[in-house]
Amino acid sequence: MGCVRGSGLFSLVLVLGLVLINWVIFCNGSITSSFVRKLEKTIDMPLESDVFRVPPGYNAPQQVHITQGDVEGKAVIVSWVTPKTPGSNTVLYWEENSSKKLKAQGKSKTYKFYDYTSGYIHHCTIRNLEHDTKYYYVVGVGQTERKFWFFTPPETGPDVPYTFGLIGDLGQSFDSNITLTHYEKSPIKGQAVLFVGDLSYADQYPNHDNNRWDTWGRFVERSTAYQPWIWTAGNHELDFAPELGETRPFKPFMHRYRTPYRASGSPEPFWYSIKRGPAYIIVLASYSAYGKYTPQFKWLEKEFPKVNRTETPWLIVLMHAPWYNSFDYHYMEGETMRVMYEPWFVKNKVDVVFAGHVHAYERSERVSNIAYNIVNGICSPVKDQSAPVYITIGDGGNLEGLATKLTEPQPKYSAFRESSFGHAIFSIKNRTHAHYGWHRNQDGYAVEADTMWFNNRFWHPVDDSPSSDS
Ligand SMILES: *[C@@H]1O[C@H](CO)[C@@H](O)[C@H](O)[C@H]1NC(C)=O
Ligand SMILES: *[C@@H]1O[C@H](CO)[C@@H](O)[C@H](O)[C@H]1NC(C)=O
Ligand SMILES: *[C@@H]1O[C@H](CO)[C@@H](O)[C@H](O)[C@H]1NC(C)=O
Ligand SMILES: *[C@@H]1O[C@H](CO)[C@@H](O)[C@H](O)[C@H]1NC(C)=O
Ligand SMILES: [Fe+2]
Repeated sequence: MGCVRGSGLFSLVLVLGLVLINWVIFCNGSITSSFVRKLEKTIDMPLESDVFRVPPGYNAPQQVHITQGDVEGKAVIVSWVTPKTPGSNTVLYWEENSSKKLKAQGKSKTYKFYDYTSGYIHHCTIRNLEHDTKYYYVVGVGQTERKFWFFTPPETGPDVPYTFGLIGDLGQSFDSNITLTHYEKSPIKGQAVLFVGDLSYADQYPNHDNNRWDTWGRFVERSTAYQPWIWTAGNHELDFAPELGETRPFKPFMHRYRTPYRASGSPEPFWYSIKRGPAYIIVLASYSAYGKYTPQFKWLEKEFPKVNRTETPWLIVLMHAPWYNSFDYHYMEGETMRVMYEPWFVKNKVDVVFAGHVHAYERSERVSNIAYNIVNGICSPVKDQSAPVYITIGDGGNLEGLATKLTEPQPKYSAFRESSFGHAIFSIKNRTHAHYGWHRNQDGYAVEADTMWFNNRFWHPVDDSPSSDS
């Protein structure tokens, strides 16, 4: 309880109460947290909000964001938008304390969506970076220059610690801003964000008002310019609107957000893999074909044998639509992909799967449901120590609000579920242990409402479910 700092007596009582309630329910296995949120509408921040302010200066670069640019973590894709003219495509960058400034050239492009025309969207990949190094970079060269910095990850290896933030379904509501603030103010500092899809929710506006893609880019810049966000495509990235003459799925997303898909042999930007420190991260596309013989299927089949657990002990998968979900909302939407890929996940001992889509939080037991073959009728999830833990972290806070309806009784595969906004942190310590914590926005920055010590499935595959502790 020493971690409840500056959040007042009220939260202290609330947290104490929650601990007691959890304690009682613990004896029965699954937990449906009875934490009671304030029930207020989730509303988008108005256009004139501080977080949407355009940076000062002529044609100043805005919506600056970075992501990993290769498989190994030695390249970074820098992206930004200039509103009036293309301006320079150059990124100036240098190692901290080095006087040797380097340059890389990118490209810029605009796109149209119905009656909207975008600014000049720049993407520039900077390569051959040193591992574990702080770099400064400047965009807007020759006009309004803006300077940022980032750290490259340590060289891939089994025992390099690395901490990932987890955010999903963020949107641009007042709650989204609280989620991002809590992620930033967490005493456990995330070094990169694994983003599980549904970015701006611009598609909820008339004609998919793409100005809301711009406001979102400006809102998240305070994080995305300084640490890579690893992108997963969600259903709100589709922007498929034949009624507006817009029939090319993912058009705004593809123009604005890059992924290093070619480096991992993927033919499409929506599924790919990267290594980062001790982790091998596979990003899957819930809204691209994944059945047998499809490009995604063939790619994934060849991907698993590439994972070397001696080099990257932690195997993490990101997707948008969860396979194991016990909320009413989006119930079973992940089922068709689960049927195709779950046997591979178990065989290859995936450590953890993060998904979004459901606007709530849920953590599963280690379960699998792969025995069924139509004639045998064996179709219930069973505990399986080779299976991943499935975590739904679609609780970023977008304007659609929280998923509050639950399937009852809580299925055995569901270990903990709660409808509150928040984020999570996955902190890898070494090849055997990773600490995971989910944080709800109502608590003080240091409070973790659901925690688990992960035991690596390859190096230390003993039962790690919190309910089997003690
Ligand atoms: C850069 O210089 C600062 C201040 O002199 C120092 O604290 C820091 O350790 C240096 N960083 C590197 C990478 O040399
Ligand atoms: C968003 O959060 C930041 C950081 O806490 C704060 O400075 C800003 O005023 C907030 N903006 C809105 C519109 O809530
Ligand atoms: C796996 O990685 C380790 C450490 O880098 C290396 O020694 C080993 O040869 C690799 N194994 C395979 C099959 O490539
Ligand atoms: C790995 O990290 C865990 C948690 O910090 C620690 O208990 C364990 O001793 C570490 N293992 C090794 C081999 O250092
Ligand atoms: Fe979604």
